[in-house]
Amino acid sequence: MIDRIAKYSEEIEKFHITNNDELESFRLQYLSKKGLFAVLFEEFKTLSPDIKKATGQHLNHLKEKAVLKYQELKDKLADSAKEFSGDLTLPSEPLKSGSRHPVSLIRREIVSIFSKIGFTVAEGPEIEDDWHVFSGLNFPQEHPARDMQDTFFIEKNPDILLRTHTSSVQVRVMENTAPPIRKIFPGRVFRNEAISARAHCIFHQIEGLYIDENVSFADLKQTLLFFAREMLGEKTQIRLRPSFFPFTEPSAEMDVSCTICGGAGCNVCKYTGFLEILGCGMVDPNVLEASSIDSKKYTGFAFGMGIERIAMLKYQVNDLRLYFENDVRFINQFNSSY
Ligand code: DAH
Repeated sequence: MIDRIAKYSEEIEKFHITNNDELESFRLQYLSKKGLFAVLFEEFKTLSPDIKKATGQHLNHLKEKAVLKYQELKDKLADSAKEFSGDLTLPSEPLKSGSRHPVSLIRREIVSIFSKIGFTVAEGPEIEDDWHVFSGLNFPQEHPARDMQDTFFIEKNPDILLRTHTSSVQVRVMENTAPPIRKIFPGRVFRNEAISARAHCIFHQIEGLYIDENVSFADLKQTLLFFAREMLGEKTQIRLRPSFFPFTEPSAEMDVSCTICGGAGCNVCKYTGFLEILGCGMVDPNVLEASSIDSKKYTGFAFGMGIERIAMLKYQVNDLRLYFENDVRFINQFNSSY
């Protein structure tokens, strides 16, 4: 009998359960009224007195072991049940959705405003050639904008460069599209500038181009007034100052009434009441002809603005570097329907 007790001891030690049914079958098999111990104790009664003492000790040890094992298995099962005690049918924690980058927000808003008056979007390459960035836009060969200081050239080849403005897309579109043309061109531009709060080597622009018969400076002015009021509020005033760009004649720079003081004068507008936001003008006939558009039949206007510049006015964030660092603490603050 002692041999069998040793075998049962091993069996009990190895007993492994994963659920309540298996726990119950342990109890039935060993500890219940008809279980192993009931049987063994009946058998014990029949043993001869000389071996009873030693066998009794083994039998009692085995029973203690089985009772302890039962308690241990029960505790283990209760612990593992606790791990899953959450209500698995509950909905999960709401996920915080990301926010759009302020440059994207402003770009989308500008695109949406111009789409209301019939402008569609086109894009062009960031790596360009001299023709589309400069020559096709009537830049004289010795113009300072071609200078190594401003332009990133690719592999010392002066013909291949990173575009310094989105006006290059004007040329691409004029080459491939017969007028009427009414388009805007958003995109990244690159200039060889030292990075500071006010300048960066990468920034974003949106260019506009409108070419048709009888397009006048009044059309340009009305289009930009509409844009300024949609973007910055219906009380916004605009002011056009004569300027110079090789690709427009006449050319102008547009100011808007200060978004902070409304024109009364404050330190943001340096007490002028106005802030400069874009360059514009009537497309120079040389530019139309360079892209094989008949300048006797067609006229047009163009304008170009910096997206970060508008973002700075709108959000009052005056350090350009913040727009490129992608610090989520900065980006998460922007929310909009665009
Ligand atoms: N390309 C000019 C720049 O980067 C902006 C500009 C000025 C665009 C006048 C135009 C324009 O289309 O007519 O500074």
